[in-house]
Amino acid sequence: MSKKTVLVTGGAGYIGSHTIIELLNHGGYEVISADNFFTSSPKSYDQVEMITGKKFKHYKLDLCDILEFDKIFSDHDIAGVIHFAAFKAVGESVELPLKYYHNNIASLVNVLELCRKHKTSNVIFSSSCSVYGNIEKLPVDENTPLPKAESPYAYTKQIGEVMLQDFCKRYLDFSAISLRYFNPVGAHDSGKIGEWPNNKPNNLVPLITGTAIGKYPQLTVFGGDYPTRDGTNVRDYIHVSDIADAHVKALNFLFTGKNKTNYDVYNLGSGNGVSVLEAIAAFEKISGKKLNYKIGDRRAGDVVSVYSDSTKAESVLGWKCKHDIKSMMKTAWEWELYREKEKF
Ligand SMILES: NC(=O)c1ccc[n+]([C@@H]2O[C@H](COP(=O)([O-])OP(=O)(O)OC[C@H]3O[C@@H](n4cnc5c(N)ncnc54)[C@H](O)[C@@H]3O)[C@@H](O)[C@H]2O)c1
Repeated sequence: MSKKTVLVTGGAGYIGSHTIIELLNHGGYEVISADNFFTSSPKSYDQVEMITGKKFKHYKLDLCDILEFDKIFSDHDIAGVIHFAAFKAVGESVELPLKYYHNNIASLVNVLELCRKHKTSNVIFSSSCSVYGNIEKLPVDENTPLPKAESPYAYTKQIGEVMLQDFCKRYLDFSAISLRYFNPVGAHDSGKIGEWPNNKPNNLVPLITGTAIGKYPQLTVFGGDYPTRDGTNVRDYIHVSDIADAHVKALNFLFTGKNKTNYDVYNLGSGNGVSVLEAIAAFEKISGKKLNYKIGDRRAGDVVSVYSDSTKAESVLGWKCKHDIKSMMKTAWEWELYREKEKF
């Protein structure tokens, strides 16, 4: 039987590249990818091919250009789409809201238009724990009503979920899953691919490893006066390969027709809340390095504390988090050392 083809949008990015590895190595799928490298490097495709020993087709393309995007659907028999492509920097979205509304919404509209046109009936959407905003009751599960978003970025994820829900309501032969990731960190076990932004990162872990290796003089922790156990934000860090594995499981679930409804939402988190200072301490322990950091002002758009109840993904999708915070920090550090050695 021929393998099903999955289109991975944003496949050169952090989570997309790790998911392609899972799809090729353990999923039994053919992969094609589309990315315009706005926030990533085409070199990540080379790393994926090196790690998997497999080649796949990839296209340089802005998903907002529907005419160019249409050609990819015309040229391939696409069974499912995993839609990662989006801008994701919370702080930047507060500064440049239209950039986020345009890219994140238009790209999803085009994915859905083209799925309809080309009879592709399965989509997995990258949502985010940011849809929960500043939630009081923790851990947070999927039944929690969504409050007003804290940032334009978070709002694009709320809108994306509603768009998918409405689309599924209208087209009953179409199925979609939104995966609400908590805080993806770490790198592939090979240490040869990891988070690889083409500008200074916004996320904590690459800033920690980048500071430790000397790329950045000092790490600023955004806010030390939050109402948490040590005053810093609490997050639910989850290894990127666990996130990648969840995408393969979600896709298998749709392809085998096990879904009882044609639209559903799942949290993907480890269930453990870790503060910024605890994350730094975990890094210092596994690397043996003392990190140069200072406590600075709060950053606009950041929520105080959030961690997940992921029971639903575990019981319905059969997914389980395999990596702990030590392994997240260890792989992230190995990737940083590899990048330095390879001069990436
Ligand atoms: N990393 C996180 O902390 C996190 C947390 C929750 C949700 N998410 C979501 O997961 C998805 C993937 O995140 P990531 O961490 O891999 O980000 P990333 O920036 O590493 O990857 C996104 C990729 O999409 C591409 N892209 C963006 N707009 C595009 C467009 N219009 N056309 C073609 N390509 C485009 C970028 O070039 C990049 O390669 C995003 O939707 C993000 O919002 C990420």
